[in-house]
Amino acid sequence: MTGLAAPPPDSRATTGEIMIEAQDVSKVFGSVRALDSVNISVPRGTVLALLGHNGAGKTTLVGVLTAALPLTSGRAAVAGFDVARQPQEIRRRIGLTGQFASVDGQLSGRDNLLLIARLLGAGRRAAQARADELLELFALGEVATRRARTYSGGLRRRLDLAASLVGRPEVIFLDEPTTGLDPSSRLNLWEIVENLVADGTTVLLTTQYLDEADRLADSIAVLSAGSVIASGTAAELKAKVGQRTVTVTLDGQDDPAAAVEALRRASMEPVTGLDNGAIIIPIGASKEIAAVIRALDRVGIEAAELSFGEPSLDDVYLTLAEQPSLLAPLSERPSA
Ligand SMILES: Nc1ncnc2c1ncn2[C@@H]1O[C@H](COP(=O)(O)OP(=O)(O)O)[C@@H](O)[C@H]1O
Ligand SMILES: [Mg+2]
Repeated sequence: MTGLAAPPPDSRATTGEIMIEAQDVSKVFGSVRALDSVNISVPRGTVLALLGHNGAGKTTLVGVLTAALPLTSGRAAVAGFDVARQPQEIRRRIGLTGQFASVDGQLSGRDNLLLIARLLGAGRRAAQARADELLELFALGEVATRRARTYSGGLRRRLDLAASLVGRPEVIFLDEPTTGLDPSSRLNLWEIVENLVADGTTVLLTTQYLDEADRLADSIAVLSAGSVIASGTAAELKAKVGQRTVTVTLDGQDDPAAAVEALRRASMEPVTGLDNGAIIIPIGASKEIAAVIRALDRVGIEAAELSFGEPSLDDVYLTLAEQPSLLAPLSERPSA
């Protein structure tokens, strides 16, 4: 990249253009299949949230898409460039911030941004202007001259994100941008991401939190053991797992199998397997809570604890886990 100019306006005008695409992408590390035939597609100016627990393959997919990791099979493209054949083109068009941030702790916030701007080819004046612009945008002015290693987690994450934006990338990858942040820093970061998207930036973010995906994402792909096990909008995903759930915890004396049996007889689809032995029942309307209580009452079981909730990531996983073909170990899956 020469200088820090924004992409020409006509390149932003095309809506619906796919900016991030993975087709049947697999990545194998030795005996670990970290990604298994992953397909995603992210139109320009939208946010895809890649939702998954630790070890799901999120960072690996970000690595493949940013041309940092070679893929084992399949095809991936960012901004129309192929990750395997045109990695340089991709690197100069993306911003990447991740769990292993590239900010130098010995340098001040401002010097970090200046350094990156100069590395991207900007002249001294342009680099200074861009650094100051970002410091203001990210409310880092007050700490600009302090060494980055003295920053709090929230400040550090903001500087990291600012650093990834120096070159005005069209596409940014945020790997768990808010993990470990306090609630106000999280909110702050969400607002920054929303502003970027409003300006036409395309974002792929990874997260372990459904509420984050819910708030920021136009579409969500749920990644589990290297596979996309569900995808759609937040609303579609919630509808899939049951708009709402009732969670029942039993007394030690009561037999969970009998409770499950009773709920099934009442045409419910209880989900078990939680560490604490609780039973989750997807329900349509809140009045169905009464039906849960009645079904248990019929077999003489009274819930020790009963709670009502909107679906969480755990519910999504547990409900999807009821479809064993999707989550079976690779060796047991029908081969593609
Ligand atoms: N460099 C590597 N060498 C071997 N295994 C790896 C490597 N990177 C990731 N893995 C494995 O790939 C799987 C996915 O990891 P990762 O992409 O880091 O998941 P996530 O970011 O969702 O926590 C895990 O089983 C992890 O141990
Ligand atoms: Mg990760």
